[in-house]
Amino acid sequence: MSALYNETVERFQNFVVPTYAPKQLFVRGEGARLWDDEGNEFLDFAAGISVCNLGHCNRRVTEAICEQAKKLVHISNLYMNELMPRLAEKLVKESFDGKVFFCNSGAEANEGMIKLARKFGNATGRNVIITMENSFHGRTLATLAATGRAKYRKGFEPDVPGFLQVPFNDIDAVRKAWTPQVCAVMLEMVQGEGGILPADPAYLKELRAFCDEKDILLLCDEVQCGMGRLGTRFAFQSFGVQPDVISMAKAIANGYPMGGFIVRRKYADILTVGNHASTFGGTPLACAAALAVQEAFDKDGVLENCRREGAYLMERLSEVGKKFPCVQGVRGRGLMIGVVLDQPAGPVQALALKRRLVTLTAGENVLRLLPPLVITRADSDAAVERIADALAEFCGK
Ligand SMILES: Cc1ncc(COP(=O)(O)O)c(C=O)c1O
Repeated sequence: MSALYNETVERFQNFVVPTYAPKQLFVRGEGARLWDDEGNEFLDFAAGISVCNLGHCNRRVTEAICEQAKKLVHISNLYMNELMPRLAEKLVKESFDGKVFFCNSGAEANEGMIKLARKFGNATGRNVIITMENSFHGRTLATLAATGRAKYRKGFEPDVPGFLQVPFNDIDAVRKAWTPQVCAVMLEMVQGEGGILPADPAYLKELRAFCDEKDILLLCDEVQCGMGRLGTRFAFQSFGVQPDVISMAKAIANGYPMGGFIVRRKYADILTVGNHASTFGGTPLACAAALAVQEAFDKDGVLENCRREGAYLMERLSEVGKKFPCVQGVRGRGLMIGVVLDQPAGPVQALALKRRLVTLTAGENVLRLLPPLVITRADSDAAVERIADALAEFCGK
């Protein structure tokens, strides 16, 4: 290990609150490539955690950030910057008729979405939100309470009240859990942290109809599965079901911190002046980066590439998986792919990293792949080869 690596680990251990245990030092990135400080090249099939969807240091985004940084970085929301409404208009045109609130992260986007649902519901005496088992919505207190995995809440009691978890992909469970106090149902259309579990399209249609019947909101957390990841700009477009609110973050500005939600016009004026706020939300620099991301979706064939490489990777990985007894299957949508193992995936992730392939894990036993949407066929082939190699070392043929 290099001197810089050793120094960085020591500083990290001495001065950083140990909520993470990072594995590797990177100093540079370009497209789907990362380099360590000794010049070793890695193939990145994590993209942050579905953050750098256009690849590292995308030309459009880098230029937009540099230009905007010379003009105006921040002005607060007490004054107007021209980019924020321009970005809101673009996001609405690409999704559904409504309005946008901007903030800085996924948890903050979900908090805002939850507050909107509560204000909607409280007007008629309702404030319970049904969420899904195995879901993940963030680490703030309310988003933890919404999250359907108790292990994340342990030690942080008392839980924020007003959330009720039901099994995912089970419409009868939603019907049974409903009471007159329920104001919304919240879910990820593809559960990410939970292990790359896509919703059943028929279930989503029934859920939409149920929400209409009961006059409750359908809230979709697109923090991980949105922004092109499924091969459509927004995740709901890949399922053909219209939510009332979607939350966004991660890839919205390709790595510059930003979050937000889009709410249907019918519910867009529930939050009013002074109801909710965020100092940095919609700051010009973030908006410039996010507008560049939208331009890349418009002009660079990113979504088509995601669909093409996603289908190819699913096929190749499924073939490879059949050769190894520890692989139970491959699942996902677009470039959100999980290789399901019969045991924890951490060791395979480590073996892939040894082969200079950056991956993630999810759920209990899933090797999670979230590559930049701009990967080439050669990148896909190289990744499959390295995963096959890692699996061979892990569980043999
Ligand atoms: C579906 C989903 N929602 C919310 C979050 C929280 O986002 P953030 O870490 O930006 O707060 C995440 C993060 O992984 C996520 O995957």
